[in-house]
Amino acid sequence: MTTVDLDLPAGVEPTPLALLLLGRQRDPDSERGVDCPGDLPPASDPTLVARARAAKAALGDRLFVLGHHYQRDEVIEFADVTGDSFKLAQQAAARPDAEFIVFCGVHFMAESADILTGPEQAVILPDLGAGCSMADMATFDQVEECWAVLSDAGVADATVPVSYMNSSAAIKGFTGRHGGTICTSSNAKRAMEWAFGKGEKVLFLPDQHLGRNTAVRELGLTLDDCVVYNPHRPKGGLTPEQLQAATVILWKGHCSVHGRFTAESVADVRARIPGVNVLVHPECTYEVAMAADLVGSTDFIIRTLDAAPAGSSWAIGTELNLVKRLAKLHPDKTVVFLEKTVCFCATMNRIDLPHLVWSLEQLVAGNVPNRITVEPETARYARQALDQMLALP
Ligand code: 13P
Ligand code: SF4
Repeated sequence: MTTVDLDLPAGVEPTPLALLLLGRQRDPDSERGVDCPGDLPPASDPTLVARARAAKAALGDRLFVLGHHYQRDEVIEFADVTGDSFKLAQQAAARPDAEFIVFCGVHFMAESADILTGPEQAVILPDLGAGCSMADMATFDQVEECWAVLSDAGVADATVPVSYMNSSAAIKGFTGRHGGTICTSSNAKRAMEWAFGKGEKVLFLPDQHLGRNTAVRELGLTLDDCVVYNPHRPKGGLTPEQLQAATVILWKGHCSVHGRFTAESVADVRARIPGVNVLVHPECTYEVAMAADLVGSTDFIIRTLDAAPAGSSWAIGTELNLVKRLAKLHPDKTVVFLEKTVCFCATMNRIDLPHLVWSLEQLVAGNVPNRITVEPETARYARQALDQMLALP
């Protein structure tokens, strides 16, 4: 690791996390925490919009900019395509002629885009600090250890891994090697159904909530059919008998944004806004999903709001950039954020206009900044799992 001098009292060591958040430390082993070399334009620079437009025009068809729905408006404005993680993966795969794919999203999405594009195409993440705390909750070594625990319990052969897109390329590679599939929130039901056509049990990782909501709410399994594997406890905190009896083995991971919504906030908004429809993302807890009126992916949330009648009221449980955009897009409807406290995704928000301008201008100057590459052996197996997702019925 490379550290920089900070003005701290003698004997006080900065924590690695604090340094990463300050962009003041490099950790090549982590998907987070690498600052941008060179000069980042200040956010107050009034020429940023014109500079972004000029750089995009100079790069023309060589450039394709993808923007996830949770990105800031200032970044979404420059996206050639916006979408949820499934649509963006499809779009990356469908652009073989683009020399540079600038991914305005988070690291695991850029990795997936690299896996799905050709070797001569460069995928660029404008700020390498844009990781995902959920993806970090399942490391390759932990997942390998989990598979060994399943093998010892005699259930690995009957288990099919289903990994959420929000996972590292190494986990996607593990999934492909063991005959599994990737899923996103828009196809988790179909992915699990496909997996149950192949095996008796599903190992779902890393989001326990999406896994539980899909298994119980969508496939009709019971809560007792699911067990939670905790990578921080010996043997996942489960006995061989528990693993043998389970139908779905959920990894103990969650989204730090969607995990903040509570059943109390649902009750509270119903009391505040009579007749409100509560619409939440399936990364929310099972209790929140059960208390809501509708549960669905980012794409489902957008389509539902588009189709909603004028005058209707909506409390949305997903990332705040998207909820604010939906409120602006639908002035004829009442659209509120489900929580009372602010809830942006901190890592999605790291991609801002200065980082976008910086990366585009680097490309114009002939440099390829912040290129995301996945090692070929991992990419080969990860691609099998991603292709399986893209081929789901
Ligand atoms: P989707 O884009 O699949 O809805 O995922 C939500 C999310 O949390 C992305 O990080
Ligand atoms: Fe990760 Fe949640 Fe942020 Fe998505 S919203 S990038 S799952 S922390």
